[in-house]
Amino acid sequence: MAYKRETKVWRTFNQDNLNEDEHILEAVQMLKEGKIVAFPTETVYGLGADATNNQAVEKIFQAKGRPSDNPLIAHIGSPNLINDYVTEVPEHAKKLIDAFWPGPLTVILKSNGRIANNVTAGLKTVGLRMPDEPHALAILRNVNRPIAAPSANRSGKPSPTTAEHVLQDLNGKIDGLVDGGKTGIGVESTVIDCTTEPPMILRPGGVTKEQIESVIGVVDQIDSEVKESEQPRSPGLKYKHYAPEKPIWLVRGDALKMKQIAEKLLNEGKRVQFLVSEERAEELQIIDSINLGSRKQLNEITANLYNALRKIDSLQVDIVVAESFTKEGIGQALMNRLERAATKII
Ligand code: TXA
Ligand code: MG
Repeated sequence: MAYKRETKVWRTFNQDNLNEDEHILEAVQMLKEGKIVAFPTETVYGLGADATNNQAVEKIFQAKGRPSDNPLIAHIGSPNLINDYVTEVPEHAKKLIDAFWPGPLTVILKSNGRIANNVTAGLKTVGLRMPDEPHALAILRNVNRPIAAPSANRSGKPSPTTAEHVLQDLNGKIDGLVDGGKTGIGVESTVIDCTTEPPMILRPGGVTKEQIESVIGVVDQIDSEVKESEQPRSPGLKYKHYAPEKPIWLVRGDALKMKQIAEKLLNEGKRVQFLVSEERAEELQIIDSINLGSRKQLNEITANLYNALRKIDSLQVDIVVAESFTKEGIGQALMNRLERAATKII
């Protein structure tokens, strides 16, 4: 059964002292009472619930329409909390935590069973992350317990990078929303399984493979193409996330190739929209495109992607023709999301 909730939105904060801000403390109180509250992180907005409270966590699955076999990340406000929830922290995990927390890195460790079992979806492991965003940290430090927080979107929609996106999907379905403005990174955290040797990246994200390898040496990486019959290592991988309602054709090639594809579609009477960098828009000599920013600033392109994917759904178009980017650095996470959003890669 879906509950109807009055969604309280907080937009103003005492930025000099977030830890004692009255709106933050109100959000904290709600979380302690088992309510669900969305808040910004440096990656995307998360939908939080007390990760030690099964009933509270159940509300997240209901509000999102999320399949219950897909585990949630538990967010903490200090690395000191880790040992209360896991059986051991291997050496490579310690190094990663030292190097990248607070930040966009989720480490998978062996759970000691104190995190609610619907957070871990019955797995023997738990994903932990300390985010690097002032509102999130103020909340987490005040609650002083892990907060389960998947991205604050309806399941199947792109993750939210603004409070407006959260309201589009979840207004009336969640108890509260902390509006901290647009998120900085714009794609989710990197998920790395530290229960294996070497560790394995399950989801590329805000911390790059290159950065990880500079700290702990070579790591494995899961093949992001999941075949139908396989049991995925990370349950989230089997779901086609980030998919807008309109078909997206992702083009591996230059402006000429994109132009030829678009012309063919136009001749078939299709309404076409481009999803491109400002450089590519110039090469194509088009004014009417969805502009992701400069190709020289992949961070900017990445930060704008989910907003662009949401915009596509509201446009009168039949097909979106999208540009491909390098898979180096943050480009790996960017391309992972674009490939998973695409209906066709050509
Ligand atoms: O940046 C982020 O990580 C955002 C913000 C809100 O922190 N959160 C987020 O959560 O993206 P979510 O639930 O949308 O994605 C969590 C991913 C899923 O792919 C899930 O399968 C994986 O992490 N995951 C969580 N716990 C896991 C576990 N124990 N073993 C394997 N994969 C796990
Ligand atoms: Mg998500």
